[in-house]
Amino acid sequence: MTQAKIKDINHVAIIMDGNGRWAEARGLDRLDGHMRGARMVKKIVRASKTLGVKHLTLYAFSTENWKRSEKEVSGLMRIFRRYILSESADMLAEGVRLKFIGKRDELDDKLTSLMNWVEGQTAQNSTLNLTIALNYGGRDELVRASRKMAEAVKNGDLKPEDITENTISNYLDTAGTPDPDLVIRTSGEFRTSNFLPWQSSYSEFAFIDESWPDFTVALYEQAISNFRRRERRFGSVIGK
Ligand code: IPE
Ligand code: IPE
Ligand code: MG
Repeated sequence: MTQAKIKDINHVAIIMDGNGRWAEARGLDRLDGHMRGARMVKKIVRASKTLGVKHLTLYAFSTENWKRSEKEVSGLMRIFRRYILSESADMLAEGVRLKFIGKRDELDDKLTSLMNWVEGQTAQNSTLNLTIALNYGGRDELVRASRKMAEAVKNGDLKPEDITENTISNYLDTAGTPDPDLVIRTSGEFRTSNFLPWQSSYSEFAFIDESWPDFTVALYEQAISNFRRRERRFGSVIGK
């Protein structure tokens, strides 16, 4: 494997965790933490472009997050709508292509129409591919992909013996996006919480103590420079 291959960073995926604790520690409402978190997104999107990251995937809401209070869930949905409305012009101007992954049919119509609209608006952009995982769960994604494959087999469009790892990748929401090189999780938790299980099989991981609202471009750069120093073996023996 060449040195350049080892150091390439094409796709960063981030589990933006810790908004709620950040707010609670300051006597604020959890939604204040989510609003601070949304502001951080803009900084990280800009920094990604500077650092040469081509794909950035952000975990915004999991299929398990519906277990939270109605107030927090509806507040988050409002933040997502506002984020799309307030950021779309800048994203368009800055070459950002925005896409969403996750189970869309459980989201309300106001939000899904904005998601569809902004995806269409930014479809021609290619400087940075920003994917937001919204009502995303890796297991749910695999269930939906399996159902689609089963339908294709039933209709005679796919033969069971032709199903390969590539076929499965192509049935996932992330079809066409390379696997993440680096997955970052903020706020000190050492778990992936159903984020990109198939796609991150060979990703490097960075677990950062700071909560998402306290994340900084400097911490982001540090995670990327640590990544560049790691040796990715993909099951082989380097140098042999
Ligand atoms: C991450 O922050 C954002 C979402 C899950 C929507 P949290 O809300 O999970 O913050 P903590 O982990 O409770 O501090
Ligand atoms: C993962 O964080 C989901 C997002 C960051 C959107 P959670 O806070 O929901 O995960 P757990 O509950 O700590 O595993
Ligand atoms: Mg959390």
